[in-house]
Amino acid sequence: MKIIRTLNYQDMSRKAADILAAQVIQKEDSILGLATGSTMLGLYKELASRYREGDLDFSEIKTVNLDEYLGLHPSNPQSYRHYMDENLFSHINIPVENTYLPSGMTDDTDEECGAYDVLIESLGGIDLQLLGLGLDGHIGFNEPGEAFIKESHCILLDASTIKANARFFEDEDEVPRHALTMGMGAIMKAKSVLLCVNGKAKASILKQVLCGPITPRVPGSILQLHPNLIVVADEEALSEI
Ligand code: GLP
Repeated sequence: MKIIRTLNYQDMSRKAADILAAQVIQKEDSILGLATGSTMLGLYKELASRYREGDLDFSEIKTVNLDEYLGLHPSNPQSYRHYMDENLFSHINIPVENTYLPSGMTDDTDEECGAYDVLIESLGGIDLQLLGLGLDGHIGFNEPGEAFIKESHCILLDASTIKANARFFEDEDEVPRHALTMGMGAIMKAKSVLLCVNGKAKASILKQVLCGPITPRVPGSILQLHPNLIVVADEEALSEI
């Protein structure tokens, strides 16, 4: 595990962008695993600006996102498809058909999740997986539970996650109760993993993730077993380590 300590959010965003940019430059047809949430906004802005400056080419890149809310249409501003289009894809030259997320509009979540795993396999797996961290230690939407779940699956979101994510919705009641998420198998099989964490509120959970016992009660703790984990976190997030 490599931990890169940054001064603040902006510094974290730039350093994480450096790592992603290096991946895109070194392997122009990389498969990138992408994440959503407020943590990634600065990083995606950086990537867009580097693209505009002519430093990056995404024309052969393919992306697979970690998760999507169940029941939200791509046109819904709170859907992760909308988030990705708005914050990254519309600002770079990635062909939209090269960008994949699980479909939140499916009638059959088992089939959709199975197909998502087949898709990731057929792409040859993920070269670099970007991750944020939930306040309860979730990665993607792999919530705390009795066991690590290997496959993509449909999950009932924890009350704390619904509360945390309510800030993006008009009302807490509007936050979908279920989501589809990539499982731990595809994440752990990624050639490298880039975990970005910022802010004091995540200091305690980041300590548990990186230094505590490896347990499905703290889903991100499984990353301790990843052979190529890079953590880019600001001083506040690392303040308890
Ligand atoms: C969300 C997403 C995660 C994200 C995490 C942190 O619920 N499913 O992929 O990494 O929670 O979000 P934020 O960056 O807004 O703190």
